[in-house]
Amino acid sequence: MCSLYSVIRSTITLLFLYIRRFYLSSRRLCLMIFIGQVHIIASDHDDSDEEYAANAQPPKITSLPNTSRLDKSEISLATKQACGLREDSGKKNVSIASMIQKRALGSGFSIGEKCRISSNFLPNKSRQVAKYNSKAFCGSYSKDGRFFLTASQDKFLRLYHTDDGEFVEFKKISARDVGWSILDTAFSPDGNYIVYSSWSECLYLCPVYGDSNAQESLSLCPEDRRFCIFSLVFSSDGREILGGANDGFLYVYDRECHQRAFRIEGHDDDVNTVAFADNTSQILYSAGDDGLCKVWDRRTLSETDPHPVGVLAGHMDGITYIDPRGDGRYLVTNSKDQTIKLWDVRAFSDQNGEQNTRKAVANQNWDYRWQRVPRRLYKAKNMLEGDTSIMTYRGHSVLQTLIRCHFSPSATTGQRYIYTGCASGRVIIYDVLTGQIVNTLVGHKGCVRDVSWHPFHQEIVSTSWDGAIISWRYSGKTGLYHYESEDESDTETPPRTLRRSQRIAAQRAKHAAAC
Ligand SMILES: *[C@@H]1O[C@H](CO)[C@@H](O)[C@H](O)[C@H]1NC(C)=O
Ligand SMILES: *[C@@H]1O[C@H](CO)[C@@H](O)[C@H](O)[C@H]1NC(C)=O
Ligand SMILES: *[C@@H]1O[C@H](CO)[C@@H](O)[C@H](O)[C@H]1NC(C)=O
Ligand SMILES: *[C@@H]1O[C@H](CO)[C@@H](O)[C@H](O)[C@H]1NC(C)=O
Repeated sequence: MCSLYSVIRSTITLLFLYIRRFYLSSRRLCLMIFIGQVHIIASDHDDSDEEYAANAQPPKITSLPNTSRLDKSEISLATKQACGLREDSGKKNVSIASMIQKRALGSGFSIGEKCRISSNFLPNKSRQVAKYNSKAFCGSYSKDGRFFLTASQDKFLRLYHTDDGEFVEFKKISARDVGWSILDTAFSPDGNYIVYSSWSECLYLCPVYGDSNAQESLSLCPEDRRFCIFSLVFSSDGREILGGANDGFLYVYDRECHQRAFRIEGHDDDVNTVAFADNTSQILYSAGDDGLCKVWDRRTLSETDPHPVGVLAGHMDGITYIDPRGDGRYLVTNSKDQTIKLWDVRAFSDQNGEQNTRKAVANQNWDYRWQRVPRRLYKAKNMLEGDTSIMTYRGHSVLQTLIRCHFSPSATTGQRYIYTGCASGRVIIYDVLTGQIVNTLVGHKGCVRDVSWHPFHQEIVSTSWDGAIISWRYSGKTGLYHYESEDESDTETPPRTLRRSQRIAAQRAKHAAAC
């Protein structure tokens, strides 16, 4: 057995690095290779100590995005209007200089004008706001942007106050009953509670203020013992929590009745992501490893015989994330087929499209957690027959974990962009209207799993498996922060060098105190 081990070591460039971490005896390792528990991959990446080093480069996309469907869609017009590219039909584009002149005469900026101006100041400079010794899985702003919540594999949830653009940790919650890692978190709409999920039969609910040991367990009573909720979200009234599970079911927990409200069989495989279409909480979206995104209507849904009102088909591999635009009509999905697709729920796929997606997914014989992307997935031409998506965005890579993508906020950008994490350690920002990458934020050393754009400020926070939480803002050549606030006050913040040294000093002091 051990000679087999040495043969494998000498012939294969790299043995999967986690083997080393667990210091397996060579005998047990050989056994595991035989029974298929250990995956050996050939890789040409350097011999760094990263367990999952970032893929060095995102894919190079040579073909132009095809916007023919998008251009005919209403989202194109709606986005142009919202972000000031088309203020009103009579007027042509005005230059920013003349917009400022006009404002000086007292009429102020419209939202569209603000969005047009801020589109020239997209975040491009990094500042690390936290660093953990384990992979960070989730990082998101609360709805009002006053808090930031992170979750990492060290089983801690950390809450930060983000007033004045600084990240001040005010609460560290030790998560209960965590199998492998905390997988998803959500703020209640009133901002008073957070909920998290893991490989566990329960969700846990904790107050944002007050005793962090006061955690309420919300049992979902699944049938399988090996159970996890990959994705969860509050209804807009905060009463219900919707979750997507590894058993293919959707779960809804009712906080007032303190029990599961329903459980419906949604997918053939893991449900990786769930969402509410809009703030009425009646229309649900779900998607997962079967590659299909399903739309459900609560008003006609039967627990015993559940049927979606429609299916969105066209991805060729599992879907990792859904982000609804919030208008009840458009949504984007991120997929292991290395694309983001934009959908209109008024254009459902037919049986044929659904079958083609199922076939394409069944034909995928690679594991996105450890392997490279097969080349065929990058070929832009191979759109599935029956694909009803209105646009496909390519240029990021979805590997290793359930990478998330979002629409940019409406208040500052008119939802003009889609931004996503990337396995190459980048944040990629696409223009919804052209499909082109408008900004690439380079700085992480590991896969970026989560991204969150401040609802009212021009700032993106990225959360990565390298353990770092990075805040991105615009910085011109001067090196000053341009921190635009809602009320247009032209406050200039002091140079960053000062703030950073202060923060590092404070961190050192904290570390010293902790040790
Ligand atoms: C773009 O997509 C449309 C509709 O899907 C198709 O008819 C057209 O041929 C495509 N254009 C290019 C250049 O591939
Ligand atoms: C208005 O601005 C957009 C985006 O910068 C540009 O593509 C378009 O050509 C402009 N239109 C006019 C009439 O100047
Ligand atoms: C729901 O969204 C609509 C349109 O986006 C908005 O007019 C309405 O005020 C929202 N309602 C609630 C309860 O947030
Ligand atoms: C950010 O972008 C601006 C203009 O696009 C550029 O002048 C500036 O140098 C960039 N800042 C960084 C840190 O790359």
